[in-house]
Amino acid sequence: MKISIACDHGGYELKLFIIKWLKENNHSIIDLGNEVYNINDDYPDFSEKIARHVVSGNSDKGIVICGSGVGACIAANKIKGARASVCHDTYSARQGVEHDNMNILCLGARIIGVELAKELVVAFLNATFINEFRYNKRLEKINILENKK
Ligand code: RB5
Repeated sequence: MKISIACDHGGYELKLFIIKWLKENNHSIIDLGNEVYNINDDYPDFSEKIARHVVSGNSDKGIVICGSGVGACIAANKIKGARASVCHDTYSARQGVEHDNMNILCLGARIIGVELAKELVVAFLNATFINEFRYNKRLEKINILENKK
C-alpha cells in the first residue's frame, strides 16, 4: 500500500515519529512535507498536497497532521474525491474506512500522544471499505453533493 503523509508546523514532530515508525514496520511512505519545521507554514498547503496525491491515485491512503487535525481536515475536504476526517479514537479510524471510504486520516498532534497516534494509524491502514449497497448509496450522495453548484 502506498501511504503519503504531510504536516504543518503543528504536526511536524509527530510526522517525523510516524514516518520512522512506519518505515521500521516495512511500509513505504511518501513524505509530502513540510520538510523543515517552519512556524509560518500553513496547513491548507499540505492538506492540498495530500488530497491531490490520494485522489489522483499516487497514494492509496493519506495522513495529514496539524495541531488539532481540524484545519487540515477542513482543507483536505475541499478537494473533490477527498474523504478526510479527524479521528482520535480507533473505532472511527477503522469504521471511517469501512463505511465511508475515508481516504485521509487527519491527526491533531497537540491533542493526542504518539502511542494513540500509532494505534489510529494502524486502525486506518488495516481497514478496508465494505463494498455494500448501503455504503455505496451514501457515497454516491456525497458525490452528488460535490457536484452541486
Ligand atoms: C497551527 O498553529 C495550527 O493552527 C494548525 O496546526 C491547526 O491546529 C489548525 O487546525
